[in-house]
Amino acid sequence: MRVAQAIEFGGPEVLVPAEAPAPEAGPGQVVLDVAAIDTIFVETQIRSGQWEDYFPVRPPYVPGGGVAGTVRAVGAGVDEAWLGRRVAASTGFTGGYAEQVAAAAEALAPVPDGVSLTEAAAVIHDGVTATAVIDATGIKPGERVLITGASGGMGTLLVQLAKAEGAYVVGVARGERKTALVRDFGADAVVDAASPDWPERAREALGGTGADVVLDGVGGDVGLAAFALTADGGRFSAHGAPTGDFAPVDPREAEHRAVRLLGIADLQLSAAAHAEMATRALAALETGALRPVIGATFPLERASDAHVAIESRQLVGKVVLTV
Ligand SMILES: NC(=O)c1ccc[n+]([C@@H]2O[C@H](COP(=O)([O-])OP(=O)(O)OC[C@H]3O[C@@H](n4cnc5c(N)ncnc54)[C@H](OP(=O)(O)O)[C@@H]3O)[C@@H](O)[C@H]2O)c1
Repeated sequence: MRVAQAIEFGGPEVLVPAEAPAPEAGPGQVVLDVAAIDTIFVETQIRSGQWEDYFPVRPPYVPGGGVAGTVRAVGAGVDEAWLGRRVAASTGFTGGYAEQVAAAAEALAPVPDGVSLTEAAAVIHDGVTATAVIDATGIKPGERVLITGASGGMGTLLVQLAKAEGAYVVGVARGERKTALVRDFGADAVVDAASPDWPERAREALGGTGADVVLDGVGGDVGLAAFALTADGGRFSAHGAPTGDFAPVDPREAEHRAVRLLGIADLQLSAAAHAEMATRALAALETGALRPVIGATFPLERASDAHVAIESRQLVGKVVLTV
C-alpha cells in the first residue's frame, strides 16, 4: 500500500511517497481503508526532530495518527457489524499517513451519515482535545474566556465550544483574515496578535480584572502574556506549544494568585475515552453545532506540501490529506 514516510528528521522534503506492507487486523483490531487523514502542527515538530526527546519516534517512520475511512477487516474478538462502517479513529503518533491503517476497535468512533470523512478526520484530534480542554477547565455560563491561537485547528473549535457553554469569549489571532474568522465563529471580541499592544487590548476586552479561564494553544511569550491576563483564582490551560515551548509559567506565582494550572498531562485519554469524545464531536458536526475549518486538502502523495502549508502559517484553518 502507499504511505508517506519521513526518511529522516528535517524539513518537509524528508516526507516522501513510499510502499509499505498492508496492515493486518490483530486481536481486538480493525483495518480501515483510509479516505482522509488529519494533520496537526505537532507532526511538523516531530518531523523536524526538534521534539526528539519527547516522542519515541525515529526515522524512517510513517507520520500521522488520526484517520477516517471504512472498516475493511476485523480481527479476532471484534464484532463483524463494524465491517463496511464509516469510522474515525486515533492511532497514536505514527502510521496514519497511509492507504490502510490498523486501529483498536475500542478507538473507533462511527461517523454519522451527514458528516463527510474529510470533516471527520478534521476533528479526530482537534475536536477531541478541544472537548477535553473544555471538560477539564469546567467553563461556566458568563465566565470570561481568553483563547490564544484562536484561528488554529483547535482554536476555532474551542471558540465554538466555549460559546456553547455560555462564556464571553475573547480570541487572539494574527492578521485581518484570521481575526475575522474568529469573529465569524462567535467570539465576542478578537485582538490581533500582530499588534504589540495585544495584551492591553485583550485586558480591555476582558473588562479589567482579566479572564476566568485562559486556553493557551500557542505557548512561549504569547502564553506568558496570556497567563498575566488570568484573573486571580482563575484557570490556565497550557495545552499548546507551536512556538516551541509551553507557556513558561512560574508555578509559585500561579499558587500565589490561586490560578489552577492545567497542562497536556490533564488531556491524556484512554482509547475508549478518546473514542467517546470523538463521537461527541462528530455528533456536534452533524447538528451543525461545531464547524471545522478545512483550509486545504492534499493527496497523500503530497504530504510534504501539506507540511509546508502548515508551517507557512498562511492558511486559515487546518490541512487534511486525502487518499
Ligand atoms: N490538535 C490537537 O489535538 C492537539 C492536542 C494536544 C496539543 N495540541 C497543541 O495545541 C497547539 C495548537 O494545535 P493546532 O492543531 O490547533 O495547531 P494549528 O492549527 O497549527 O494552530 C496553531 C496556532 O498557533 C498560532 N501560532 C502562534 N505562534 C505560532 C508559531 N510560532 N508557530 C506556529 N503557530 C503559531 C497560529 O496562528 P498564527 O500562525 O496566525 O500566529 C495558530 O492559530 C499545538 O501546540 C499543538 O501541539 C494540539
